[in-house]
Amino acid sequence: MTQAVTSNFPVSENVARMNPSATLAAMQAAEAMRAAGVNVVDFGAGEPDFDTPDNIKQAAAEAMRAGQTKYTPTAGTRVLQQAIIDFYERQFEAGYDRSEVMATSGGKQAIFNAIVSLINPGDEVLMAKPYWVTFPEIVVFARGVPVFIETEESGFVLNADQVARAITPRTKLIILNSPCNPSGRVIASGEFRKIMELLSDRGIYVVSDECYLRFVYPPAEVFSAATLPHELRSRLCIAGSFSKTYAMTGWRLGYALASREWTKAMSKVQSHCTSNPNSIAQSAAAEALNGPQESVGAMLAEYTARRGWLLDALKEIPGLKCGEPEGAFYAFPDVRGCFGKTVRTSAEFAQKLLEQEQTVVTDGLGFGSEGYVRLSYATSMEQLEEGVKRIKRFVESL
Ligand SMILES: Cc1ncc(COP(=O)(O)O)c(C=O)c1O
Repeated sequence: MTQAVTSNFPVSENVARMNPSATLAAMQAAEAMRAAGVNVVDFGAGEPDFDTPDNIKQAAAEAMRAGQTKYTPTAGTRVLQQAIIDFYERQFEAGYDRSEVMATSGGKQAIFNAIVSLINPGDEVLMAKPYWVTFPEIVVFARGVPVFIETEESGFVLNADQVARAITPRTKLIILNSPCNPSGRVIASGEFRKIMELLSDRGIYVVSDECYLRFVYPPAEVFSAATLPHELRSRLCIAGSFSKTYAMTGWRLGYALASREWTKAMSKVQSHCTSNPNSIAQSAAAEALNGPQESVGAMLAEYTARRGWLLDALKEIPGLKCGEPEGAFYAFPDVRGCFGKTVRTSAEFAQKLLEQEQTVVTDGLGFGSEGYVRLSYATSMEQLEEGVKRIKRFVESL
């Protein structure tokens, strides 16, 4: 007789407290509909629609041929560590040492390592709303307490006054994310510095998630916390990623830059978790940083064109209000103007849009912002045009 082993699985308390990823759920919903032959427009995907540049793929092929198919040091190969250090030196004169850098299986693992190696039960971790869905989940997993900072009043751009008001004696860490997923908003360099000065005075640790570092639209400027003077960086961990910049989501490569002590603690976590990131992907990532950068510029130019078109098109849809994203590749419109008898929440907006017009957007609630939805413009102009047509038709039907 076959036993049903999953129905009463004694899931651990740590995992029971976590929610599944809302963004991955939206992607999977779109995938399932496509597989069933439905003509879906997918604004859900948080990943570039571009292919990984050819020089990067070639480097991976060469690595395989050369037999780089074995375990590597936990914190990554020397070649990749040096490529990361050199990139931060060229761009930001950051002066990182090899003991302060580690390669990870995606930026997500860098954030996971950073939180799990620092947070004790009851420690408070600050983050601005809207936040990337994964931040509070990792904090909860580590038995910390996520503390959310409302930023709607400042157009979703976090400032030092808001941070100062949220600090308590239990605050251990803050997670900054500029450019932000989902709002696309960017913290200007002056304000970023003010926030870091305040945190440094209070002895609070910082994770700066710079996953969208290179996708910033002028007049906003690319800014990394690595630019700050050393005295403001002693409690800082930068989490970076190859996923978006080089269209490498599936390769699972990211990195952390932090003090020697924090890096050591993170390496301990990683050594018992994934051992090391994929050896072949590490060679590819080194080429991504050391090789030609034209592909990054080409992607940014394409996102710039799509962003401009999408923001104009959204203005034409009654009931939608959308602030200007300054980075990343998301629009985050307020859809409360469409609420009424049929649609009363952003989840219902997303669900009914899917049912009625086979169009996927991500409910803002998963990012802590009920009343908003996230649209990814990492999709073709053709899909954008078709999707906006469908959203307009849907909104007009309400
Ligand atoms: C804000 C943010 N941080 C980190 C990541 C992690 O990306 P990855 O693990 O693919 O490097 C993502 C991916 O969507 C993200 O949006």
